[in-house]
Order: sequence, then structure tokens, then C-alpha cells
Amino acid sequence: MVEEHYSGHLVIKAFNAEKAKNKVFDETNERLHQTMFKAQIAGGMLQPFMSFLSYFSYAAICLVGGLLLSKDTAGLSFGTITSFLIYANLFQNSFTQISQAMNSLQMAAASAERVFGLLYEEEQENESHKKPLLDFSKIKGEVEFRNIQFGYEKDKVIIPDFSAKIKPGMKVAIVGPTGAGKTTIVNLLMRFYEVNSGNIFIDGISTKEMSRHEVRDVFGMVLQDTWMFEGTLKENIIFNKPQITDEQLKNIIQESNLDYYVSTLSHGIDTVITEESSLSSGQKQLVTIARAMAENAPLLILDEATSNVDTRTEIEIQEAIDKLTQGRTSFVIAHRLSTIKNANLILVMKDGNIIETGTHEELLAQNGFYAKLYNSQFELA
Ligand SMILES: Nc1ncnc2c1ncn2[C@@H]1O[C@H](COP(=O)(O)OP(=O)(O)OP(=O)(O)O)[C@@H](O)[C@H]1O
Ligand SMILES: [Mg+2]
Repeated sequence: MVEEHYSGHLVIKAFNAEKAKNKVFDETNERLHQTMFKAQIAGGMLQPFMSFLSYFSYAAICLVGGLLLSKDTAGLSFGTITSFLIYANLFQNSFTQISQAMNSLQMAAASAERVFGLLYEEEQENESHKKPLLDFSKIKGEVEFRNIQFGYEKDKVIIPDFSAKIKPGMKVAIVGPTGAGKTTIVNLLMRFYEVNSGNIFIDGISTKEMSRHEVRDVFGMVLQDTWMFEGTLKENIIFNKPQITDEQLKNIIQESNLDYYVSTLSHGIDTVITEESSLSSGQKQLVTIARAMAENAPLLILDEATSNVDTRTEIEIQEAIDKLTQGRTSFVIAHRLSTIKNANLILVMKDGNIIETGTHEELLAQNGFYAKLYNSQFELA
């Protein structure tokens, strides 16, 4: 709870929610306090109680033994009683030790519950035996979705029956209202999730037969949410491609429109950036585009890649993206429909289904859902 509120403190401040959140915190904290208090009392009591039992039994044995010895009826000797005392002591010692470890044992039990919760999660299929099936230099980039059915939860279907065949080198745009399932299609394509039924083929090979590693090798990707790690700008762009030369990096930075920003930095591309600071949302997006350029994969996925940059930068980046997508099969998701006008194929999605397909002109001529969507972007203007 502390962590959640700490990372969301800007929102809490912006909504003036300190008081309410403090109250929730106090309540939770009080509950923790009560529980810990009880736990400490119980834990602390255990050892004195065991000691008491131990001494009590010691005294009892002495007393009873002494009485028996004085009457001399049972044929007990002084030595028997002494050894009995020692045995009793040894026996109780082990209990005292267990009681000392009780606290730790309980904590271990609580942790074990979580550890086993994780261990009992369904395993991802072992793929170490899968051999590479694609020849990386000869990938054509034909992608086919065949009768895909999928839902994030078992009983809630998001994509009922999705089929599409994409020819090599095509620029495919996926458009549709928020929540239509565009990002879901991308997640399935990258095998971040497994389809319930159906198949996705890359160059005629089902992605189920490939290893996840291979599938992801084939795609370069710019995601809807940007992500930076703490490191220099250069490290963030090069990421998993250490063989990139300085010359190539310079080109990438120029094409992704980062050159002006880099020139304002005191250490240039060696400036250290972090996830929270140093970059605006648009700049982060430019870095992720540059990262995809560096990756230079045969297929490309752009999910709202330019949603956070201004329109002029968008046009400039569009040129870079056009260059990048040239001759590569690429999937472009964009809400601003003006940016995907030149796509070879537009898939219009609604509620997980493709309701219209065609080029921009064809779809406008159909005067259907796409035409409505497209025109609505200009009505206000
Ligand atoms: N991880 C998830 N678990 C459960 N449901 C999810 C998850 N991610 C998305 N959904 C649901 O799947 C549906 C499709 O979501 P998706 O992210 O594919 O939409 P989208 O078309 O990309 O929308 P947007 O244009 O807003 O990005 C939504 O109804 C959403 O609530
Ligand atoms: Mg999305």
C-alpha cells in the first residue's frame, strides 16, 4: 500500500486526496499494529511459559521423588531420581528450542504460502527443444490469422473469430474504437498471450511451433506504453543490439527526430535518463521508435507509436516510419486516421471482429463505419 501510494503521489496531490488517503493509511496501519502487537505478545509469552513448565516439572519430580524416597516403598534410589531429573531436563530442552523457533516457523509458513502460490501457477510450455524454423535472412513476411479465438479470462471472449491474410511487405493498419481489441491482436501476434483456438502463421509456419524467442526476434515493436530503463540515452536506444556502429546510431537519431533533443543535452547521447524523469512522453516515444529502428527486424508493429508527439513531429516521424516500413510487413495501429491513409490494407475492428477491410479509398467509398470514423475527425475542425 505504501509503495502504491508513493508511486501515485502526484495523482493523490492533484486530486487533493491526501486526507482521505491518510485515513485509509491510518486504518490499515492500525490493523497492522494490532496484529503485530498480538503476534509479539503471543511470541514473547511462549518462552517464559515453556520455562515455567520446565521448572514446575523439575520441582514436581523432586517433590514426588523425595516423598517416594523417604517412604522407601517403591525401591527407588537417589541415583534413579537424579537421572530421571536429567532425562526430564533433556526432554524439555528440545521443546524449549522448538518454542524459540516458533516465531520463525510461523513466518516461514506465511511466506511458504506465497512461494507455493507462485510455484503452483501454470507453467509456460517448455520450448528448449524447439529448433529455429525460419531462415532469418529469407523471411518474406507473410502473416496469416486463421480463426483466432481469444479471451484474457476463460469465460469472457474478446476476439470471437478473427481471420486475415497479409501478403509480404504490406503495410496493414488496424483501426477501431477504444477497446476494440487492437492491442490484443498485437499481444497474440507476439505470443504474449496464447490463443484459445486458431493459428497465426508467419511465412506459412504456425507461431505455436516456433519458440517465443523466435517469434519475438522476427518483430520490431513500438508499444502503446513506452518504457525506459535507467541508463544512458545511447543504451536505451541500442538496447539489445550492441553491434550498432556510431555512424548507424547517428542516422537512427536523425531519422527518429531525436537530434534536436540530443543537441540540448549536456552529455549528448551519453546522458543518463531514468524512467520517471528527464524525458517528456513524446520524447520517450521517439526513443522507443529509435529502438525499433535499431532492432531492424523483418516485421514491424507500431501500436499508437506517434500518439504523444505534436502533429508536425508526427509528420516528420511518419517519413521515418514510412522508410522503416518500406518492404517490410508492418502492422500500424493509429487513432489519427490521417496517418494511415497510405496503408495497403486497413482492417476496421469493432468488438473483436473485423467489420470492414480495404484501402482508404475503398472504405470511404463504402461509406460504412470507417467513413464515419474518418469523417468524425474532421467535423470539429
Ligand atoms: N490484460 C487484460 N486482462 C483482461 N482484459 C483485458 C486486458 N487487456 C485488455 N483487456 C480488455 O480487452 C479489450 C480489448 O482491449 P485492447 O487493449 O485490445 O483495446 P484497443 O483496441 O487496443 O484499445 P485502445 O485503442 O484504447 O488502445 C478491452 O475490453 C479490455 O478491457
Ligand atoms: Mg491499444
